[in-house]
Amino acid sequence: MTRILVTGASGNIGRLTLKHLLKRVPANYIVGLARDPGKAADLAADGIEIRKGDYFDYEGLVRAFEGIDKVMLVSTHAFTDRNTQHENAINAAKQSGVTHIVYMPIIHNADSAIKLPQVTDEDLFVEEKLKASGLTYTLVRHPPFLENIQGYVGGDPLQKGVLTPAGTGKAGYACREELAEAHAVVLTEAGHENKSYSLYGDPAVSFSNIAQILSDISGKPVPFKTVSDQEYIANLVSAGLPEPAAGFVLMWVHGVNAGEWEGKTGDLEKLLGRKPTTPAQFLRANYASPEVETES
Ligand SMILES: NC(=O)c1ccc[n+]([C@@H]2O[C@H](COP(=O)([O-])OP(=O)(O)OC[C@H]3O[C@@H](n4cnc5c(N)ncnc54)[C@H](OP(=O)(O)O)[C@@H]3O)[C@@H](O)[C@H]2O)c1
Repeated sequence: MTRILVTGASGNIGRLTLKHLLKRVPANYIVGLARDPGKAADLAADGIEIRKGDYFDYEGLVRAFEGIDKVMLVSTHAFTDRNTQHENAINAAKQSGVTHIVYMPIIHNADSAIKLPQVTDEDLFVEEKLKASGLTYTLVRHPPFLENIQGYVGGDPLQKGVLTPAGTGKAGYACREELAEAHAVVLTEAGHENKSYSLYGDPAVSFSNIAQILSDISGKPVPFKTVSDQEYIANLVSAGLPEPAAGFVLMWVHGVNAGEWEGKTGDLEKLLGRKPTTPAQFLRANYASPEVETES
């Protein structure tokens, strides 16, 4: 039986992918990779072997990938040397005898003018390396996470409204839990070799749609107000975000407003075998007051 290793076991997507794998294959065929295995102790308690590995430590990765057939490469943090880390992981996997790598680039339309710093070029770099590696691969392209909406619209939209720079573009956000479930499907089924999926959620929503959804959920008007880029950054900074991080969030919001993630493929629904969670369902679960929840 195929042995599958998932990197980023201490993080959100890696952990969730391993949890979904556990529902599909016996624990002794699943391995997690973490810089600090102690941060994945919950997975070890589930019977998953956790190996220590750092994307910067090539030889350590070669050892960690020993006996593994498929690797899910969870993309590393922005604002680090992402190319070196991802390239090390691909080369080490190949040297260890891994035959298939699944990678999660952010959806990028080839004709789009939007380039996310620290994201777009680094993802294209991985795609090139994978295609040149001779390994089989699957690209499970991600839209922005539904979980990001909270960060995009600032700290307290129910009180202050949705305050974002002007734009009418929409994004097909998807939640981490379902993206991870789709990863587990791709990792455990045959037929996904050298394929790319764009895992859009559905329906795509704009920031004004989000304000309307929050109004419906809370039962009181949540206004949508456009602000300048400078005001947007100042709002995020006053909510506690460091300025460089606020600038990074702004780039994603510009991407949403430009319609970068407005597509629809049905890939996520096909892999899950059901409709993905909608923004309204997700926001209701995260913003609804107890009174509103008991009404539904
Ligand atoms: N689609 C989106 O909207 C979106 C939004 C944000 C980020 N992302 C991308 O998606 C990735 C996964 O998201 P997430 O929420 O799961 O992030 P996360 O919780 O921060 O997980 C990132 C994982 O990468 C690991 N990592 C970082 N540097 C490493 C290294 N040098 N060697 C080995 N492992 C390393 C981290 O390990 P430690 O626990 O040791 O740090 C962590 O387990 C992010 O890293 C980012 O590239 C996507």
